[in-house]
Amino acid sequence: MRFLQDLDDKEYEGKIALVRVDFNVSIRNGHIGEDYRIRMSLPTIEYLTKRNCKVILASHLGRPIAHHTKYSLKPVAHRLSEILSKRQVRFVNNSIGVEVENEIKNLPCDGVLLLENLRFYKEEELNDPEFSKKLASFADIYINDAFSTSHRKHSSTYGAATLFDIKLGGFNLKKEIEYLTMIKENPMRPFTIVIGGVKIKDKIGALENLLPKADKVLIGGAAAYTFLKSKGLKIGNSIIDHDHLKWVDQSLKKYGEKILLPSDHLVSSNPENTTPIYCMENIPDGMCGFDIGVNTIRTFSTQLGSKTKGTVFWNGPMGLFEKDVFSNGTINIAKSMALAYWRGSTTLIGGGDTMEGMKKAGVSENEVSHVSTGGGATLRYLAGDKMPGLFILN
Ligand code: 3PG
Repeated sequence: MRFLQDLDDKEYEGKIALVRVDFNVSIRNGHIGEDYRIRMSLPTIEYLTKRNCKVILASHLGRPIAHHTKYSLKPVAHRLSEILSKRQVRFVNNSIGVEVENEIKNLPCDGVLLLENLRFYKEEELNDPEFSKKLASFADIYINDAFSTSHRKHSSTYGAATLFDIKLGGFNLKKEIEYLTMIKENPMRPFTIVIGGVKIKDKIGALENLLPKADKVLIGGAAAYTFLKSKGLKIGNSIIDHDHLKWVDQSLKKYGEKILLPSDHLVSSNPENTTPIYCMENIPDGMCGFDIGVNTIRTFSTQLGSKTKGTVFWNGPMGLFEKDVFSNGTINIAKSMALAYWRGSTTLIGGGDTMEGMKKAGVSENEVSHVSTGGGATLRYLAGDKMPGLFILN
């Protein structure tokens, strides 16, 4: 795979680059929440514009089934121009067509143009050849800087890319691949994995690859109840993944010695309850576990905070952290991750919820070696699945 710096500077001069970015960020009432994905695209944009290359940014936002202002990328263009204060960022209400062509013509040679949400066209997700052709017709160079969308075989991630002679990976994509390849293939030891969240299914592929390499695996969040159930403990009404109980059984048999599970919990009969009950080991009937308990927090935090070298990968919150009463586990794990980083470990965080948890704990991106922009894509990459958006760059 070739990256931006593999091309001579003069090859960019006076050219137009189509850059697939992932600006799929949360927008409420026109206001952007977390803008990490936008900020991560800046090195690539700066690199190109400094070399007098016009930049056309293409992204999706959400999963709209038709054109809807709620899913417009216009607020992203505003945020981008705030961040890139010295550059002109223009926005066009379309992803293809004459309007786009005219905007590109009038764009200064170091200008930036953001296209409207690609998914306003159903052709995008269908990887439609005509749509791909139209997208590709705008530019001389194709750049994928959207690792987090590279598991999708869409026009902008695959079809359009096939039509370029020059296709490159952007800086963000490069960084993602380097960190994730390191943990997939050769993690610095000791290697600790922290898994939380609800869906075991999405994580099985990644775990299959990582479990043999890991020295310790800490499991919290809703994922833990399936493991506890498999060990014969009572879990009350806690969420379990029935479809994957067998896989969990087998994993416990094979890797049981590395796996640490919660020994105590905060439980409640419903998530709205603001006065949860603390319980050890077995969860009473009618109750659901919504956070790990203090003893588990201490055990997990000691495991992480004592690390002075090696690698830690965290994916998935430890409980229903959106509710303050159930956020203690996630907050403490985030703080222990920061401690591990400051003491010398390489730390990686993946998934939108995990990042939200980190923010809630007041842990900044600078206290983690790498925060992956990908959710599904990160897990798919770690599972060794084929990623069309990366495959086509090779
Ligand atoms: C993500 O948020 O994981 C990426 O932007 C991909 O979005 P998608 O799952 O809607 O394709």
